[in-house]
Amino acid sequence: MISLLKCMDCGREYPINAVLYTCKTCGGLLDVQHDLDALRATVLRELFDRRLGVPDAPHSSGVWRYKELIAPGLADAQIVTRSEGNTNLYPAPALAAWAGVRALYLKHEGENPTGSFKDRGMTSGVTQARALGMSRVACASTGNTSASMAAYAAYAGMEGIVFFQDRQIALGKLSQAIAYGATCVQISADFDRNMALVREIADALGIYVLNSVNPFRLEGQKSIIFETIQQLRWRVPDWVVCPGGNLGNSSAFGKALHELHQLGLIDRLPRLAIIQAEGANPLYRAYQSGFARYEAVHAETIATAIKIGNPVNYPKAVRALRWTEGVVAQVSDQAIMDAKALIDRQGIGCEPASACSLAGTRALVEAGVIGPQETVVGILTGHVLKDPDATIGYHRDALAGIQAAYPNRLYQAEPSAAAITAILQGAG
Ligand code: F0G
Repeated sequence: MISLLKCMDCGREYPINAVLYTCKTCGGLLDVQHDLDALRATVLRELFDRRLGVPDAPHSSGVWRYKELIAPGLADAQIVTRSEGNTNLYPAPALAAWAGVRALYLKHEGENPTGSFKDRGMTSGVTQARALGMSRVACASTGNTSASMAAYAAYAGMEGIVFFQDRQIALGKLSQAIAYGATCVQISADFDRNMALVREIADALGIYVLNSVNPFRLEGQKSIIFETIQQLRWRVPDWVVCPGGNLGNSSAFGKALHELHQLGLIDRLPRLAIIQAEGANPLYRAYQSGFARYEAVHAETIATAIKIGNPVNYPKAVRALRWTEGVVAQVSDQAIMDAKALIDRQGIGCEPASACSLAGTRALVEAGVIGPQETVVGILTGHVLKDPDATIGYHRDALAGIQAAYPNRLYQAEPSAAAITAILQGAG
């Protein structure tokens, strides 16, 4: 078997086609484990470089370009892809200066088909659902997972079922899940409770769960790292900085880096910095105790994407931090929204949670953790259009508890050339 499922805690193995998210013996999280020794001879930088720019699926996808590291034993015909990935890695010199580092690149995962990095996990997750013969898939979501799953399920001819907290989901995301035809259920419970409910109900009804507790999701999300390092011509940055919510991305990044290193595709590992919102910081708190203590928290933050108090992938994120000598930081909602405004003003744009990458970089430079001569890749996880209320609220300076440091005023004018001219000449 080239790939199998393996418990990260007790090591018990299961066949790759088992419908399982956690270990039957000990409850530990499962990894998709590939036989890296068998892949070593063929998985070379040149293989992936040759596929850059090819027109046909699956290798045209920025996920399936790395198929050997994602699902090596899978028949191409099973793959459900929308040519996701292939996202820009923007050099951001002005933001590098603001954060206090020599070089900052922003990897814009909002440029995926449904506007977030979740598409990279959904192409692999829905592909696995299809390979297993599933007709219904479900997730709990703060928004982006639901938008992505709804789209990929529809594209694959499956029913998507999404659970979210009522009134807490950003408008762009809710409209996507509805438009793509998912069965949408608003529940008066937070993400963490909805996550438990979806697992309970899915098991009882034979529905496949596509939250990031599903290890096949993480296999696709590893490609964010593969693609970034390939875009850097296989040079490794000093730091990769990303927001942390349910900690799927952080876990996937750790696994991706570990595998690249084991295969000799990179000769050193970047350090991972996971950034949480102050009001949704269970990983940060555990980090403060050297991971001796872990407690779920009640989550509150304007960055609704990461409003998560009990992340399912906590153990895998801790492993990723250990593999990469990683760090965890927290940032305030104020810092998140100001960093977002700066990213937006560069013409790059992102949703609030994504701005943790920039706010966190600055905080870690100030704390002396990231050095001024170091190179940082910040991950922008979602598109600026996802959460228009947060953006407009900020620029109107109408967000509770936040004072916009970088507002862009919206002018109101009478329909006369004189009035408009006065505004443009700064007298408005
Ligand atoms: N950024 C955005 C825009 C997200 O949507 C999420 C997660 C994260 C960061 C955090 O990533 O969970 O892998 O640590 N959103 C999930 C959702 C939980 O339901 O859409 P993570």
